[in-house]
Amino acid sequence: MISQNSIAQVFETARVEEVIGDFVQLKKSGSNFKGLSPFSEERSPSFMVSPVKQIWKDFSSGKGGNAVTFLMEHEHFTYPEAIKYLAKKYNIEIEETEQTDAEKAQADTRESLYLVSEYANTYFQKVLHNTNQGKAIGLSYFKERGFTEDTIKKFQLGYSLDEWQAFTDDALGKGYNINFLEQTGLTIVKGEKRFDRFKGRVMFPIHSMSGRILGFGGRILVNDKKAAKYLNSPESEIYHKSKVLYGLFHAKQSIAKEDNCYLVEGYTDVIQFHQTGITNVVSSSGTALSADQVRLINRLTNNITVLFDGDAAGIRASIRGIDLILEQGVNVKVCTFPDGEDPDSFSKSNTLEELTAYLEANAKDFIQFKASLLVKEANNDPIKKAETIRDIVNSIAKIPDQIKREIYIQECARIMDISENVLFSTLAQINKKEHQEANKTYKQDQKAFQVVKNEPQPKQKVDVQFELERKIIEILMLYGDRTEQFEDLILKEDEASKELVLEPTKHEARVFEKIYLDLQEDEMQFSNTQFKALYYAIIDKLNQDENFSTKNFINQLDQESASTVTSILMEDERYNLHDWERNQIVPKEKTDAVPQLVSQTILSLRCHLIDQKVAEYKNETLNKNADLRAIMEDVKDYVSLKRLLSRKLGKVLG
Ligand code: CTP
Ligand code: MN
Repeated sequence: MISQNSIAQVFETARVEEVIGDFVQLKKSGSNFKGLSPFSEERSPSFMVSPVKQIWKDFSSGKGGNAVTFLMEHEHFTYPEAIKYLAKKYNIEIEETEQTDAEKAQADTRESLYLVSEYANTYFQKVLHNTNQGKAIGLSYFKERGFTEDTIKKFQLGYSLDEWQAFTDDALGKGYNINFLEQTGLTIVKGEKRFDRFKGRVMFPIHSMSGRILGFGGRILVNDKKAAKYLNSPESEIYHKSKVLYGLFHAKQSIAKEDNCYLVEGYTDVIQFHQTGITNVVSSSGTALSADQVRLINRLTNNITVLFDGDAAGIRASIRGIDLILEQGVNVKVCTFPDGEDPDSFSKSNTLEELTAYLEANAKDFIQFKASLLVKEANNDPIKKAETIRDIVNSIAKIPDQIKREIYIQECARIMDISENVLFSTLAQINKKEHQEANKTYKQDQKAFQVVKNEPQPKQKVDVQFELERKIIEILMLYGDRTEQFEDLILKEDEASKELVLEPTKHEARVFEKIYLDLQEDEMQFSNTQFKALYYAIIDKLNQDENFSTKNFINQLDQESASTVTSILMEDERYNLHDWERNQIVPKEKTDAVPQLVSQTILSLRCHLIDQKVAEYKNETLNKNADLRAIMEDVKDYVSLKRLLSRKLGKVLG
């Protein structure tokens, strides 16, 4: 684990505008930077970075946060990956907290395996580009396949010499340990003898999501019936086949951006698609798709389009695996290619426009596709048809979403020309038999669904309380630690007229204290639980910490709260942006009006609370046994209080 100390140091040092500047073109705009959203296609910039607050907000996607959350969103790093990335960028040494000796040894082993693999990757590329054999055999093979120089470099393709231990000798000469060479599978050790696993093959390095080398695929170049066409690295401490997708490192951004992921069979399909211009594509590299692999994609998008080679047998075999995708609630489309073509050959012989058009025209919803395919096969054979029904309903049963299941049942009934009832009862049977556990949740969400269906949706209206609570958080974050002159209007009896009047009195206070005391006086409670938690956290922090900083405070929050605070803070930046663009003037700094802002917000909140109280009383009058007189008295008091407050508010506003 990375020590808290190192994390704090990273947060201290990292500048959000510098971190984001590596990915997004930022232009200065007032005290902020703005740029085009990296999360959506847009022409006018709605992406804002505040160097003062050290936060960013993307108004087109609603995302926002600090430097670390940007890396998690944009690069799809995990938290530790983001911290490590920043540490590297700012030359901060990461300190790991105490590990047991076994943990340390394991971490060391893994690190060594990474280093060996990294070295091998560089070596194979060098051999491809700089040796006669590499150029004559490896490079010319890739060129023949139609890969450009850029593509070869981008995917770091390489070549392993056709010699028994050229690589192994080289690596040992450079000081790499034979144990790690063996564990990565790069070297095969047999007694005293050592062999290069990938002898005479062109090399496809397999990257982790963050770009580290985990293993390799090597393709043979001669026609040899006895040797496997592709040879892959064996499982190791760093390479778990079922948890890796080939091409994900190069595809992750565009998968998120396009909100779809193409799934192909092989290395060359991925590469050729990239070269043609479609980059949201990954491959499970010959193995059956695993649940973990679907999960990797699911972090980026909820839509997968599976691309099949053009042979019917292959399609039948692959169809089974797709239930696994459905199970995770992912929407699946499938697309087949003309007979004898695979994604590689098809994208090679077509332009980007043609390929895109083809995919658009031929990608079909998986369940519909499966139903039509099966119905064709079962053609007039009643026994086969019964089997088919079971098969298709099996797939539908995997879909977690009840509404989607119902729609599919209707759809399949139409395609297969049978009654919906047959399909529904088959579904019920399957659920009962095979998914005792799942059946429970199925029933539960069926129930939940009914509840939702019967209750009319409440009308959306501006929630005054919500807005005011939000405003209070904003004020606390921005100005909470300031000391200001507050003018309170104190209710007094006028000496002469004996009437109640409001008399202004000045006093100095820190903003957060003023807010806290005023709200406490009203016994005002936050209704939004997240705001409430934030409110107490901020008050607490301000109380303890003389040097309150928005940045540090946000960094200590959990991700959800941090994101809430960020949007609150950035929301007002947006208005600045718009005003600025419209008027071509920098809006007036509003910070000199902090006391007014505070009083205004608190008074508004009080007025709102009174309105609520009055409404409650009105409700009470509907009760048959209500003491109408008493209620009317109370309401009258509240109404006059409200009038008083409104006058105050008017003065503050005026
Ligand atoms: N594969 C494998 N081992 C094999 C054959 C295939 O690991 N013996 C994997 C590879 O990842 C390969 C994918 O399965 O990319 C698809 O196999 P195939 O369609 O045979 O290969 P292509 O990608 O079409 O390879 P090529 O075009 O180079 O013949
Ligand atoms: Mn092929």
